[in-house]
Amino acid sequence: MTSIRTGITVITLSVYLVAVHIHAGKFEVLHWWTSAGETRALDFIHAQLSQQGIDWQNLPVTGGAGEGAMAVLKTRVLAGKSPAAAQLIGPDVQDWATLGFLTTLDEIALQQHWSAILHPTVDTLIQHQGHYVAVPFGIHRINWLWINRTKLKQTGRSAPQNWDDFFSLADEFRQQGIIPLAHGNEPWQNATLFETLVLSLGGPRFYRSVFVELDEQAILSDTFADALRLFARMRSLMDDDINGRSWHQSTALVTDGKAGMQIMGDWVKGELSAWGKEDKLICTAVPDTRNFHLYSIDTMVLFQQPQPDKDQQLFAATMTAMNTQLGYSLRKGAVPVRNDIDVTLLDPCAKDSYLRFMENEMHQTLAPSLAHSMALNAEREDIFIQKIHRFFQQPDTPVEQVQAEIVRNLKPLKQ
Ligand code: GAL
Repeated sequence: MTSIRTGITVITLSVYLVAVHIHAGKFEVLHWWTSAGETRALDFIHAQLSQQGIDWQNLPVTGGAGEGAMAVLKTRVLAGKSPAAAQLIGPDVQDWATLGFLTTLDEIALQQHWSAILHPTVDTLIQHQGHYVAVPFGIHRINWLWINRTKLKQTGRSAPQNWDDFFSLADEFRQQGIIPLAHGNEPWQNATLFETLVLSLGGPRFYRSVFVELDEQAILSDTFADALRLFARMRSLMDDDINGRSWHQSTALVTDGKAGMQIMGDWVKGELSAWGKEDKLICTAVPDTRNFHLYSIDTMVLFQQPQPDKDQQLFAATMTAMNTQLGYSLRKGAVPVRNDIDVTLLDPCAKDSYLRFMENEMHQTLAPSLAHSMALNAEREDIFIQKIHRFFQQPDTPVEQVQAEIVRNLKPLKQ
């Protein structure tokens, strides 16, 4: 993901004024949701808003985790063509709000009691200096292991609880002649896999000390070194065609029984439901993370218009309504951002995610995703993602070298 900083620091006030844009009837929504499940979830919102007279225009930019979308958003804003709404997540929302680009949603938030109905983590994430500046969509859990149900059954084993079990199961899948672990060699996918290993080996407090607090000792620790070694070992479970493979192509491999497992966020479930193949896979936590929740919270921001824009307010109000939250989450594989959900309405994976989220939130042990922009702003996140990606291409690199490089590169950004 490229840093927005380089682009936005050069924006002068005059450019900003040009950038303010009237959406003139059309309600453009820039996002990176292009897979079957993602599209279906967005279509659901689109349909609800169209019924209310909003002329929704999709501006999709391919690339999981927003790898391409952020660059396009920057260009559009600088060219004075800001969309009415854009997918923007994590601490980056604060950067855009600081520059004054975003519409505030305080009135809707007050009317709908957002501070009472949203999970506290969500409520904090969408505020800037006490004002609401983003619309929450849903919460994803990243530390999921997806396994082909039939293939697992054929091994006579149950879902792996620890890494020994995991590697033995992988061996069995290899003996069945299928790919043990489906994966795509993209920077964000590699970071997604790696962060689950850091959580697994170190637990949530260690995870936070690395990816949130940037604690040098934690990055240089044996635990972090072990996570890198485990990550390198994962490469041996993959096939030779990982380059250019999207996350949903990996999901298809597991669903079709050509691969045994995939480690990926629960947007996989959105895909299964779009394909009508929910029963093909089982969801289980990544080994040794059963009690934890590594999260990504999807949000959209609304770009300021010269006049108050009622479509934007309607969009925010619709998105947080109970029926929208339930319908959207079901299609997206996410769980609702509201804390007042009847959990009997959720499927077993979603129920587990929802309850774990609340439990970890209460104990302050939630793990914000690095790969999905929850932990750091873009500049710092990029350093980790690039180093992790490079190491995965050259897994023979001594792990101590990778650790030292991360620390060295982060140093100038820590002040
Ligand atoms: C994440 C996003 C998810 C999912 C995924 C893959 O960053 O939070 O909603 O769509 O990317 O595209």
